[in-house]
Amino acid sequence: MSEMTEIVLTIDGQEIKATAGMTVLQAAQKAGIYIPTLCHHEKLEAFGGCRLCMVEVEARGWTSYVVSCVYPVAKDIVVRTRSAKVDKIRKVLVEELMAHAPDAPELIRLAEEYGADRNRFERDASFCIVCGLCVRYCNEVKQKNAVGFIDNGARREISFIPEVAKDECWDCQECFTICPTSYAQAAYLLTEALAFPGQRKVPIKTTQAPEPTRRVIPIMPVAATT
Ligand code: SF4
Ligand code: FES
Repeated sequence: MSEMTEIVLTIDGQEIKATAGMTVLQAAQKAGIYIPTLCHHEKLEAFGGCRLCMVEVEARGWTSYVVSCVYPVAKDIVVRTRSAKVDKIRKVLVEELMAHAPDAPELIRLAEEYGADRNRFERDASFCIVCGLCVRYCNEVKQKNAVGFIDNGARREISFIPEVAKDECWDCQECFTICPTSYAQAAYLLTEALAFPGQRKVPIKTTQAPEPTRRVIPIMPVAATT
């Protein structure tokens, strides 16, 4: 029987005890130390997409910048969750994301914290920041695959699959509450309006949202057009 190996590291000057296999983000969260995240969800596999959780790590005299939601804890490393460079990286990341979703409340809050200029980059208001939370939640937690990624690189976006969404989404809607920009809900409504207006499988249910931390606007049925 293997015992959990304890690993001691330093985060923001505090000695933290973690176990092998934990990420730096998990160790920090366990100790009550805040690191901003946009694509992380405790029920999902680490994704490492948004890079907002970047921290400074000093190990054997070397300083590097790592994505804390995928970076494993290691003995005696020294982690700084804020520094001039970390803050600058986060500021630019928020500015880039705001070109896509300038009015997302979470980005507005982060912009205030890091002094980000929401108009720094040319607007390309796709409203989705491609954090993948909706896609991964639907796949890993719900196992429905009603929403997926399409295209790649800069053109990557999410899309609901009408045949699945018609039967599954109205009864769930859990991705709406974890989407940082409200785009998941908008994309679902658009899919419904275009592909299966008035044909939802089940009537309105009261919310089953896991952690209703984000504001969700109640959905009104989309009427069939004739
Ligand atoms: S719709 Fe929302 S949850 Fe889904 S990838 Fe885009 S921003 Fe993330
Ligand atoms: S939370 Fe770590 S990369 Fe998004």
